Amino acid sequence: MKTYLVTGGAGFIGSNFILYMLDRYSDIRIINLDALTYAGNLENLKSVEKDPRHIFVQMNICDREGVRGLFEKYDIDYVVNFAAESHVDRSIANPEIFVETNVLGTVNMLNCAKQAWLKDGAWAQGKKYLQISTDEVYGSLGETGYFTEQTPLCPHSPYSASKASADMFVMAYHDTYGMPVNITRCSNNYGPFQFPEKLIPLMINNARNKKSLPVYGDGMNIRDWLYVEDHCKAIDMVLCGGKPGEVYNVGGHNERPNIFIVKTIIAQLHDKVDAGIDESLITHVADRLGHDRRYGIDPEKIRRDLGWYPETMFEDGIVKTIDWYLANGDWMENVTSGSYLEYYKEMYAGK
Ligand SMILES: NC(=O)c1ccc[n+]([C@@H]2O[C@H](COP(=O)([O-])OP(=O)(O)OC[C@H]3O[C@@H](n4cnc5c(N)ncnc54)[C@H](O)[C@@H]3O)[C@@H](O)[C@H]2O)c1
Repeated sequence: MKTYLVTGGAGFIGSNFILYMLDRYSDIRIINLDALTYAGNLENLKSVEKDPRHIFVQMNICDREGVRGLFEKYDIDYVVNFAAESHVDRSIANPEIFVETNVLGTVNMLNCAKQAWLKDGAWAQGKKYLQISTDEVYGSLGETGYFTEQTPLCPHSPYSASKASADMFVMAYHDTYGMPVNITRCSNNYGPFQFPEKLIPLMINNARNKKSLPVYGDGMNIRDWLYVEDHCKAIDMVLCGGKPGEVYNVGGHNERPNIFIVKTIIAQLHDKVDAGIDESLITHVADRLGHDRRYGIDPEKIRRDLGWYPETMFEDGIVKTIDWYLANGDWMENVTSGSYLEYYKEMYAGK
């Protein structure tokens, strides 16, 4: 039986990953370490609340004694480090917390894993540390070309700078100590349980309430969208088959301008919710500072070496996602009743 220490497991991708893994494997145990920041929500894991294979621990990844204690208590085979501050806009407003969690927290996780797994100069067998990173570490693309694993890191936002910095520490632990690590760099995810400060759930929530739909600049910033379950599948494959020390880009060649996403959501909600929902709700707001223009992942390495491919076409995934948010209005009400609303009021005040 393998034991996974999943950090940030109450967040969007982390909770989807836990549900994916518990559904797929009967003989695993998952320790879910999450500080439950504004972005963490145990509602996401309600269906496995009583599952003895899922053990939730409320803890900060920066907590040295706490994390060390978990390694002593459980014989952990895999660390999957999702825990992070993940919203670019917040990183522009308050970069320090991104350094604390994303950089110092990662270093603490690496240290604790090293302490538990490196004994008398030899690494214990079958262990792996997986860092969940992002395509944003590569910076921005022009109209053509893709990010490969060889693309130099060139982050622009405090968020992506903190993630790039964490990636460098992960590779330094491999190069210096021989630690068995992998890094995945995935494109934008979408699907159930995403906090509605991010583009897709924000637009669905605002549109269903007939509120304005704030679009940065001309709306022509391009992101490469991947259904979250396909990301979970990639993570599982990298844990099982990834060569230690390797980086794997994850993406499905689904590049779409932001304005296209917003118009797709409007069209769906117009048909499914209220014919009064239309493009007049779109409000162009001042562009995000340092806004990257285009991201595009080349996923050839993970396809070739591990046999990964995305199973959900964007056209199907976006409909599934919209239907999920519409069917789970209570979830949306619960997460939006907190401080994030205040945050957005400030964010868009006067624009
Ligand atoms: N969402 C995307 O499109 C995307 C794409 C590529 C990579 N990623 C990466 O995937 C990971 C997960 O992203 P997400 O969208 O699920 O994020 P999220 O913001 O939805 O969830 C983050 C989780 O981490 C927890 N957390 C935050 N700080 C913590 C701390 N100090 N200690 C312990 N737990 C803490 C939060 O409570 C939350 O549950 C991040 O590392 C992110 O950089 C995200």
